[in-house]
Amino acid sequence: MTEQSLFSAFTAGDIALKNRVVMAPLTRNRARPEDDTPHGLHVDYYTQRAGAGLIITEATQISPEGKGYAWTPGIYSDVQVAGWKKVTESVHKAGGRIVLQLWHVGRVSHTSLQEGGKAPVAPSAIGAGAKTFDGEKMLETSEPRALELDEIPRIIEDFRKAAVNARRAGFDGVELHAANGYLLDQFMKDGANKRDDAYGGSLDNRTRLTFEALDAVLQEWEPGRVGIRISPFSNANNITESDPAALALHVVDRLAGYDLAYIHLIEGQTGGKREWPESVDMDDLKARSGTPWMVNNGYDRAMALAAVADDHADLVAFGVPFIANPDLVARLKLDAPLNQADSSTFYGGGAKGYTDYPTLDEAQKKAG
Ligand SMILES: Cc1cc2nc3c(=O)[nH]c(=O)nc-3n(C[C@H](O)[C@H](O)[C@H](O)COP(=O)(O)O)c2cc1C
Repeated sequence: MTEQSLFSAFTAGDIALKNRVVMAPLTRNRARPEDDTPHGLHVDYYTQRAGAGLIITEATQISPEGKGYAWTPGIYSDVQVAGWKKVTESVHKAGGRIVLQLWHVGRVSHTSLQEGGKAPVAPSAIGAGAKTFDGEKMLETSEPRALELDEIPRIIEDFRKAAVNARRAGFDGVELHAANGYLLDQFMKDGANKRDDAYGGSLDNRTRLTFEALDAVLQEWEPGRVGIRISPFSNANNITESDPAALALHVVDRLAGYDLAYIHLIEGQTGGKREWPESVDMDDLKARSGTPWMVNNGYDRAMALAAVADDHADLVAFGVPFIANPDLVARLKLDAPLNQADSSTFYGGGAKGYTDYPTLDEAQKKAG
């Protein structure tokens, strides 16, 4: 691998990518409020970013129960499928590839965001003590109730149905969101999972829901079109785990048998420190996975070039830099300056801070 390999083509399972720069999943809370549907703004936003080798959409709830914030999109209704179809068609026309991130928030929700004001669901009745947004203000997540054993098949079925809908909407594949303290991560980590049935206790039990959800998705998609995102070392949304190294090893070893499109690892604290237990050898994890390996968290140009050149990763996902730079790949190629992201427009609002960041050409023209 050479320094410029970041910009070379790569085939992730069955998905042919023109380069190895990936747009990380980014929640932006701009779906149509009445039906949690993506619309024209989303078409523009994602199409502007079609220069990425792969776009991973913002996290998208698989069911009304899977929702934890105002104005996030869903993939459980026909109108949502139609909204996403416009996005995928436009991204494809612009030469891009796009997969949908499948999401259930579990306990990271609020009763006001749940149908009938119900309590959010979780592995155990332990509150996240995290923050969410109800459309007007930030507020603390509600106390969840523990899922009954006989409800779990319903959740797995919701993942399967969402996978069917993603196919109908024209996506190139799906990414299972098993990271950042949401439902699947809540089951995997022992700070949130105190169950004493087949879904709690041992690593096999705690990871069971993730693998059952994955198997359900694989009923609808060939493995080469399915990726998974994990964050074993992250405390995002106040999740805790007593032995993250063992969890990481367990999950990666089991995923090795699946022949997936990719494994997407958040290295360290999501959006924070690139820190993990000393016993973890990241390159060993990649090697034993035998799967296209996508890394994320705090990457800049130099780090990304080196990661691919040194075979630390096959793909590098950028989050915040893609918010502010629709033409991020072109800028990285040229080593051009990057626009800085405005965090006040990350969540909610309209075109401002969403589709109005200039490309390099536009910025240069404006500068005259
Ligand atoms: C505004 C914002 C929204 C995010 N939404 C999601 C999301 O929907 N799904 C997800 O897995 N991660 C989400 N993340 C985490 C990012 O994908 C990424 O892991 C994080 O920003 C670190 O990467 P970066 O340093 O390249 O930005 C979000 C981060 C930000 C800043």
